[in-house]
Amino acid sequence: LNYCVPRTRKEIFETLVKGLQRLEYRGYDSAGIAVDGPKKATTDINGNTICLIKKKGKVKALDEELYKKDSLNLDEELGTHFGLAHTRWATHGEPSALNSHPHRSDKDNEFVVIHNGIITNYKELKKYLITKGYEFESETDTEVIPKLIKYVYDNRESDNVAFAKLVERVIQQLEGAFALVFKSRHFPGEAVATRRGSPLLIGVRSEQELLTENIPVQYNSVHEKNSHNRSDCSNPINSVGDGSAVEYYFASDASAIIEHTKKVLYMEDNDIAVVTGGKLSIHRLNRQAGEDPVRAIQTLQMELQQIMKGNFDAFMQKEIFEQPESVVNTMRGRICFDTNTVVLGGLKDHLKEIKRCRRLIMIGCGTSFHAAVATRQILEELTEVPVMVELASDFLDRNTPVFRDDVCFFISQSGETADTLMALRYCKAHGALTVGITNTVGSSICRETDCGVHINAGPEIGVASTKAYTSQFVALIMFALMMSEDRLSLQPRRQEIINGLKMLPELIKKVLELNEKIKAIANELYQQRSLLVMGRGFNYATCLEGALKIKEITYMHSEGILAGELKHGPLALIDKDMPVIMVIMKDACYTKCQNALQQVTARSGRPIILCCEDDPEITKNAYQTIELPHVVDCLQGILSVIPLQLLSFHLAVLRGYDVDFPRNLAKSVTVE
Ligand code: G6P
Repeated sequence: LNYCVPRTRKEIFETLVKGLQRLEYRGYDSAGIAVDGPKKATTDINGNTICLIKKKGKVKALDEELYKKDSLNLDEELGTHFGLAHTRWATHGEPSALNSHPHRSDKDNEFVVIHNGIITNYKELKKYLITKGYEFESETDTEVIPKLIKYVYDNRESDNVAFAKLVERVIQQLEGAFALVFKSRHFPGEAVATRRGSPLLIGVRSEQELLTENIPVQYNSVHEKNSHNRSDCSNPINSVGDGSAVEYYFASDASAIIEHTKKVLYMEDNDIAVVTGGKLSIHRLNRQAGEDPVRAIQTLQMELQQIMKGNFDAFMQKEIFEQPESVVNTMRGRICFDTNTVVLGGLKDHLKEIKRCRRLIMIGCGTSFHAAVATRQILEELTEVPVMVELASDFLDRNTPVFRDDVCFFISQSGETADTLMALRYCKAHGALTVGITNTVGSSICRETDCGVHINAGPEIGVASTKAYTSQFVALIMFALMMSEDRLSLQPRRQEIINGLKMLPELIKKVLELNEKIKAIANELYQQRSLLVMGRGFNYATCLEGALKIKEITYMHSEGILAGELKHGPLALIDKDMPVIMVIMKDACYTKCQNALQQVTARSGRPIILCCEDDPEITKNAYQTIELPHVVDCLQGILSVIPLQLLSFHLAVLRGYDVDFPRNLAKSVTVE
């Protein structure tokens, strides 16, 4: 949203499309855009128009569509203007142009809306609006929102009603989760945004230094047009403006706007942000006790080049190869190798309380859940506290009992996964101490937990998570070390783990040197339909995570199997044709894994084995081996997962799939 500097319609499109491209990594199936259209020679709403363009498929397809419309007059210069753009990942209704956003109030586009989240009471609202004569064109939950705002507008009590007031009334009727941005022909150049449960931030770009880093929240309800423009308004952003350009960007994720500004503020649930006449203000209906009365403008640390692909063909590939550095970034400033001490600043103040807990409950989804599985054993060993690992959705389905003396960890790369966030709110409501392990500063999980650890792996763009997994793994190991610092009997064990962490970057580099060998194995496997990955103990999580990577991006069926369960079912799958990968490392489960190997070879299975260097015993029974450097047992999983990350990458490339944007999946799943 721009003031004072006129832009052509083409430039506005370019900015919006660029923003969408930056968000592509989150996964989507359709995209759409709304901008001010050419004025019409009519007195109807002063001739204001909104043009809406939507397209199924990639942002590129939408971009091409924009240039096909001659009537759009791309070179027309617009003064104050406000455009919307959105990528949709289907929840209610199939991927299609009609179901994609922006959604509109009516055929004349009086109000248009973009939405992230889910409206759970949309059926009731839709039914009501249909009885009032509003016609629906999509199968989405979102469409009730533009219809509802038009209903509120059509039934307004005075002509002077403010845009924000209409939005305020709309959200009072909505249940579920949302981040919403509204545009209207009745309020040209005015933007209203609000959120509840889904992330939304505002970027502010100004030619002058901003006079403040804090935007005070206004608790007066908006009643009339321009009420937030009153001269007594103390909103300091108003002070920027006299002739200098100010631009505002609303986005669900900072990467969409980082090239325009690093000054952002994060909206809170039920905030209503309004930009009009170059001024930003934030309203809330009621002030609640303990609530922060300002929204601080923060400076983002993220660099744009960090989120670019570099010399790699795919973000996922780049992220796999970044792991020698990303694990160092996770450890940086937190481990003192001379004194064997670990300090996680974000947990320091709560350590006493954590040490007194009855249970540690680790909660996550997908890859983040696997990081909990991977570290559970060492956490139990070093803390001597029972550790539960939970898939967020299942944890909620079971209404799992949670107590005040439980400590609950929420592991999430994005910090926005709806299931994990819901589990967090559930645990909070039960009085447990909540700890976030996230990669995204300022994310919902980050902000809603009592304390936490940023894994600092840097932006992860490939939908299939790789470097975030190894960094989550390292962060949880560091937590276990921090918890056991004063336990004398555990010092030798801590020492060997800390030594292992120190060597980790070099060892990861060695594993990455196996890339060509793994590519050759992928060449043998890529036409298969299925791939089993088997192991146990410290490496079981590697099997789950490896199989997930293969499923996600190669679309092959793959299953991570606990080798101890082999004889209880999976053995029936084994024959000379079924590809099996076995992870057999020199740890406490070595002999048991050898037994599993015998059982596989006795059924003519031809296992590809991930094993330690110099293990002739294993090599002689293997069809192929991938030999890994040895490290202390509880860190071995960091090394053993990397060949499977590489394997899934090569398989996907050979099968001709888009590695970074697998079909049907989203990077950040903000719906339950
Ligand atoms: C989605 C992604 C997965 C990810 C999971 C949890 O399903 O496709 O790659 O592991 O969400 O995401 P989170 O951001 O909470 O770690």
